[in-house]
This record gives sequence, structure tokens and C-alpha cells, in this order.
Amino acid sequence: MKHNVIVYKKIPEEILDLIKETCNVTYYEREEDLSSPHFFEKLKGTDGLLGSGLKINKELLEQAPRLKIVCNASVGYDNFDIAEMTKRGIMATNTPDVLTDTTADTVFGLLLASARRISELHNYVREGKWNKMIEEERFGVDVHHKVLGIIGMGRIGTAVAKRAHCGFDMKILYHNRTRNKEAEEKYMATYSSLDELLKQSDFVCLLTPLSPETKGLIGSREFNLMKKSAVFINASRGGTVDEHALIEALKNRVILAAGLDVYEKEPIHPDNELLQLDRVVTLPHIGSATGETRFKMAMLASENLVQGLNEERPSCLLNPEAWQKKF
Ligand code: 8YV
Repeated sequence: MKHNVIVYKKIPEEILDLIKETCNVTYYEREEDLSSPHFFEKLKGTDGLLGSGLKINKELLEQAPRLKIVCNASVGYDNFDIAEMTKRGIMATNTPDVLTDTTADTVFGLLLASARRISELHNYVREGKWNKMIEEERFGVDVHHKVLGIIGMGRIGTAVAKRAHCGFDMKILYHNRTRNKEAEEKYMATYSSLDELLKQSDFVCLLTPLSPETKGLIGSREFNLMKKSAVFINASRGGTVDEHALIEALKNRVILAAGLDVYEKEPIHPDNELLQLDRVVTLPHIGSATGETRFKMAMLASENLVQGLNEERPSCLLNPEAWQKKF
């Protein structure tokens, strides 16, 4: 008998067809559908879920009595209540590795764009304002040979360190729960306390997952420790930063600039003050968003789903206890 699954993210047709070989698929392409009565009706009989962002909490799990596995098409899994899933023997999976380089490229793009004011100057040219030599007040700051502080030295942090060290001769400081030997040996990264990193870095790059420990990690105290010339980059989750404190720090020139891919509330509200500040580069949470990488993420998520439902251990299982409980 085929398994019943819900796919709640737009994925390529060929990947959907692969899932359909072993599963009956209910497919929702729009976020709005996830609050519809139809969705909750389907949830009652579903064995597996695949998508990203949907909060998998006790409330939802109570409405899905047959659920065996939930597969995020993302590396971050702050939307999962892992303890609750494990307690119920429900497997949780994510999509690490396949998006590491693409996300590191995005981080570097944000870093360069913020330092060299690329989007601001792009608008300046487009708006026909380039009718004299570029004024000094529009100059940017150098990236090469500067100090880069990476908070969260996991896979993506290490890939950012590689770009910074090998391509831009940057000195790297990092702060992480555990030491990262690869980053230290290959990219000369130096382990630092958070406060020392904040004080010494020209660029502060936040890449930690969102968890109870990292919620609001960077607030006004932390911005005040940074250099006045510091450029702050956030490509983790909006919840790791106190956004109000960030806006104040930028408005009061406590720091120089920011490059953001993530926000407290997504999509960001058009009236959010961040969108009115010149020295802020904003992206719509596109860290992993290239055609190639999103394809790989959808493929990996679907492999995890099919493996889990076929009683094989999924390659990217986050809670092995749930699997052991079942088989
Ligand atoms: C997007 C990400 O959240 O993988 C992650 O954790 O932040 C991104 O890749 C996600 O895939 C959006 O659909």
C-alpha cells in the first residue's frame, strides 16, 4: 500500500514524480493553503510531510496521528519541536551540505555589497544621479585584509572562512560552541570569546542556528561592543538578533552598515525602518536560492522522505532515537 504524504513546498515536477512512485501525494504550492480546513483534514491521514518553515509543534502533531516523518527542505530546523517529535517516534530530517557553498556565496555577496555600497550605488546610477565625479561621502570600505568575525563556525561558517582567507586575505576570528579544527588549520581562524570577537572585527557575520540559546544573541549591548566602522551580516535567522536594537545601532551610527538575508518577521513589512536606511543591504531570505541548489535540496528531502517511509534510516536524520523507537 502506498504511503500518504503532503508536500507543502513547490518542488520540481520530476522530484514530485519520484515521490509519487511510492506515495500518494497531496501537493500545496501556496503558504495560505496550510491554514485551510483541507490541509487539516489531509493531515489526519498523512504518514509523511515535506516542505520548509511549517511549525511542527505539539499542536500540529496532535492532528497528525499517523505521522512518521517530517522532512525539511532546508538545513535550518528551528521550526521543529525535536523533543516532541522524538517523544512521539516521529523522524525529523533536514538538507545539510548541498547548500553550503551557495549560502556562503550569498554571505560573501552581502558582505561585499554592504562594504562597497553596491545596491545603494546601483540605484544612484539608475536614478541618473551620476553626473559628476563620485563624492567622497559615497566611498565604501575595504574588505580585503580586514578582520572577519564569524559567529557560528559550522559548515557554512567554514565555507565563508575559506572564501575570506583564500580569496580576500582576511584575518578570521570565530566563536562557536565547539572548536573547529578545519577552520583553524586550513583558514587560520582564531577562536575567540564573543565579546572579544565583537570588539575586534571589521565584519561581524552571524551564522548560528536559531535555538533557545541563540535567540536574541545580538542586541544593543553587543552592537555597542562593535567598532563604529563595523559591518554586520545576518544570514542565520531573524530571531538571533534584536531587530529594534539593530535599527537603533544603524541610525545612531553605533555601527556602519548591515547586510541582511533574514528578519524577525518574514516577509519583512514594507514599513520596517530597515528598508529606509541607506547603509543596509536587504535580501529576501535567499541564502540557498539558486536553481541548482534548490533542486538538490528538494531531491535530498524527498530521498529522506522515501527512505524513512520505507523503513530505511534517512540519510539526514536529526533524531536517531525516533528511528530506533520504530524499527
Ligand atoms: C531557506 C534556509 O530557509 O536551509 C535553510 O535553513 O534558511 C534556506 O535554505 C529555505 O530553504 C526556504 O525555503
